[in-house]
Amino acid sequence: MNSLTTHDLRPAQAPNRLLDSLPGTDPELAARLQRRLALVEERLLECTRGDSTGPAATATSHLIGAGGKRLRPLLALLGAEFGDPEAGGVVDAAVITELVHVASLHHDDVMDSAPTRHGVPSVNARWGNTMAVLTGDLLLARIAKLAAGLGQGAVQLYADTAGRLVRGQLRELSSPPGPEGQPEHHFSVIADKSGSLISASVRLGALQAGAPTEVEQALGVFGEHLGSAFQISDDLLDITSERTESGKQPGTDLAMGVPTLPVILALTDTDPGGAELRDLLEHADLSEEPARTRALALLRTSPALDRTRAVLATHIHRAHAALTPLPPLPARHTLTTLTTALLGRTS
Ligand code: IPE
Ligand code: IPE
Ligand code: MG
Ligand code: MG
Repeated sequence: MNSLTTHDLRPAQAPNRLLDSLPGTDPELAARLQRRLALVEERLLECTRGDSTGPAATATSHLIGAGGKRLRPLLALLGAEFGDPEAGGVVDAAVITELVHVASLHHDDVMDSAPTRHGVPSVNARWGNTMAVLTGDLLLARIAKLAAGLGQGAVQLYADTAGRLVRGQLRELSSPPGPEGQPEHHFSVIADKSGSLISASVRLGALQAGAPTEVEQALGVFGEHLGSAFQISDDLLDITSERTESGKQPGTDLAMGVPTLPVILALTDTDPGGAELRDLLEHADLSEEPARTRALALLRTSPALDRTRAVLATHIHRAHAALTPLPPLPARHTLTTLTTALLGRTS
C-alpha cells in the first residue's frame, strides 16, 4: 500500500499565497505573519496527526494536508496585531480557527455530497460519510482541548461559534415558504454558518494577544461583514467560474439544491429567463448535467448576478467602515486590502 499521505505533498514552510497576493503589506508585518503562519502549519499537522492507526488517522489529516488558503488563521494573526502578537496562545488560537473550519468542511461535504475539496477527493468521497462525520467529530474534540488550554474566554467563544455555525447549517435546510422572506432568512443563515467563524477568528487572535475589549468588538463586527461577503463571493463563484481554483466542483450548490443568494434573487426575475429557471428548479433534476448546464447558463445572464454583487459590495463597505475606529496599524491596512481582494474574486 502507498503510505504517502496528502500532507507529504504540501511544501513545508511555503509562504502563504493569500498574504503574498495582498498589495502594499508592510514588509515587517508580512515577515512576522509568514513566520507565524509557518508555526501554525506545523501545529496543524501535529494536531491532526492520527492517534490511531488505519484510515481514520489518514482521514483526519487529509484536508489539512491537501491545502486551503488559511484565511482564518491569517485573520487570527492579524487580530493579534492589535495587542501583543507574540503573546502565548496566539498561534494556538490561529490553529483552532482552521481546525473548526476543516471540521465544518468534513460535515459540509457530507451534507452537499461534494466530490472534491482542496483539489483532491473529499473525505466523504474517499472514505465514506460515516468516516467523514466521525473524523470531523474527532477534530472537534481536539479543538475543545486546545481551547481549554487557552482559558475560559477562548472556550466560551469557541462554544458560541460552533453553536452558530451548526445552527446556520441546520436552518439552511428549511427555507421559509414563498420567495418573500427568503433573502432575510438567507442573510441570517450565512451570517451564522460563515460569518460566525470568520468573526471569531479575528476576535480570538485579538483576545489572546490582550487587545482592548473595544478593539476586539470592532474586529468582531468587521469579521461578521467579511464573513457574509466571503460566503456571497463563494456562492457567486459556484455559478460564474468555469473551472475553479478553489479545488471544489462548480455547480455543486445548484446540483444539491442549496439556496444561494444569486439563485434566490434570480427566482424573482420577471423576464422569460426567470420563468424558465423557476420551472427548472421546481421540476428538473439539477444533479443531471443537461438541466444543470441550462440552469447555470440562465443564471450567468440573469440580472440577479449584479444584484448579488451589490449586496456583496454593501458588506465590503460595512467591513471597511468597522475598521475605521481602530488604531492605524499596518495590520488595519492589511485587513482592508484583504477585504477588497474579495471583490476581485467575483468581478
Ligand atoms: C470555504 O471556505 C467555505 C466557505 C465559508 C465559503 P474557504 O474558501 O476559506 O476554504 P479553503 O480556503 O478552501 O480552506
Ligand atoms: C460553507 O458552506 C459553510 C461551512 C462549511 C460551515 P458552503 O457549502 O457554501 O461551502 P462550500 O462551497 O462547500 O465550500
Ligand atoms: Mg458545501
Ligand atoms: Mg453547505
